[in-house]
Amino acid sequence: MWEVHWPSSVVCLLTCPLWDTLTFESYAVFLHNFKGRTIDGLGCLHLHFHFKLLQRYFLCHEVKKRCATCLRINQTSAEFFVTHVLFVLFSCVYCIVKGMVGLVTGGASGLGRATVERLVQSGASAVILDLPSSEGQALAASLGDRCAFAPADVTSQADVQSAVSLAREKFGKLDLAVNCAGIAVAVKTYNFKKDTPHSLEDFQRVINVNIAGTFNVIRLAVGEMGKNEPDADGHRGCIINTASVAAFDGQVGQAAYSASKGGIVGMTLPIARDLAPMGIRVITIAPGLFATPLLASLPEKVRSFLARQVPFPSRLGDPAEFAHLVTSLAENPMINGEIIRLDGAIRMQP
Ligand SMILES: NC(=O)c1ccc[n+]([C@@H]2O[C@H](COP(=O)([O-])OP(=O)(O)OC[C@H]3O[C@@H](n4cnc5c(N)ncnc54)[C@H](O)[C@@H]3O)[C@@H](O)[C@H]2O)c1
Repeated sequence: MWEVHWPSSVVCLLTCPLWDTLTFESYAVFLHNFKGRTIDGLGCLHLHFHFKLLQRYFLCHEVKKRCATCLRINQTSAEFFVTHVLFVLFSCVYCIVKGMVGLVTGGASGLGRATVERLVQSGASAVILDLPSSEGQALAASLGDRCAFAPADVTSQADVQSAVSLAREKFGKLDLAVNCAGIAVAVKTYNFKKDTPHSLEDFQRVINVNIAGTFNVIRLAVGEMGKNEPDADGHRGCIINTASVAAFDGQVGQAAYSASKGGIVGMTLPIARDLAPMGIRVITIAPGLFATPLLASLPEKVRSFLARQVPFPSRLGDPAEFAHLVTSLAENPMINGEIIRLDGAIRMQP
């Protein structure tokens, strides 16, 4: 699918002179990502950057060698130059958008919502899977035709199956599933003052939504992804889960939550191995502290205390930064079976 993307083209042309300092490494990463993948406004900027580099290193052997490795092509210098300049000139006006289709659980709020917004703004389509009581319907309506709401509970087979079917019916396929739905309780294992143990029901509820819910979505979404035509790399789709730094540095009162997030961390590699033959990748993000409605409800004093615990940048994460990582991971075919902390180097204290 080709889409005119005038704003980024104009920005690119205006900022061209600033790009001389950009490196070959980011250029190579871009080219590798480009193979058959989504190019959004940022991609368009990169294409202009590409043009700038070609101007600077016209027919330079090193450029050719690096790009040939990166793209796995074997062109002569002249072919390399002609293909790329034509391509770049064309891309000055057009932005290529592959039209990925994503399913985002917990997509009506916080990290999931930011992910849905970024997907739609990047030219992809998104199905918001969230509870019927959530703001999913209103959000989908505000984002237009490339967004739909599937009222569903992640722990229900029937609900999740209908959300997956909605992706196929409305957008024709499913390329990406992002698991953001999650809940937490903050209770100590035993309250010795009141002589009461942690409620078993609460523990099981958190495990059920966070682990079983995530697994339920993965197992049903990959059935749909398996029907996709593989790209040149054999890639059919991508699953991105959300754990938490609590999987590694669980705090007092986080037994259930940390166990649930540890479960997501633990199943990432075996599921990536299970799905590798079908070309479906599985990655888990472990966020630190993000400014979502969850934390927005805390008093300002507590929020700024929490922000100061983050070494750098010393603030709460912006949900848009989480969404940025989601799309980067979706576009980078070499990342698989990995847990990525997104936390400004925070290590939670007990
Ligand atoms: N915000 C943070 O600082 C932070 C840090 C680490 C991890 N996380 C994790 O990131 C994920 C998103 O967190 P958030 O801060 O955006 O939370 P949030 O409460 O803003 O959003 C969670 C969404 O999940 C939905 N949801 C809950 N149970 C569901 C169910 N059974 N079925 C379907 N949808 C359900 C909710 O309706 C809500 O829209 C969670 O898994 C959370 O544990 C958040």
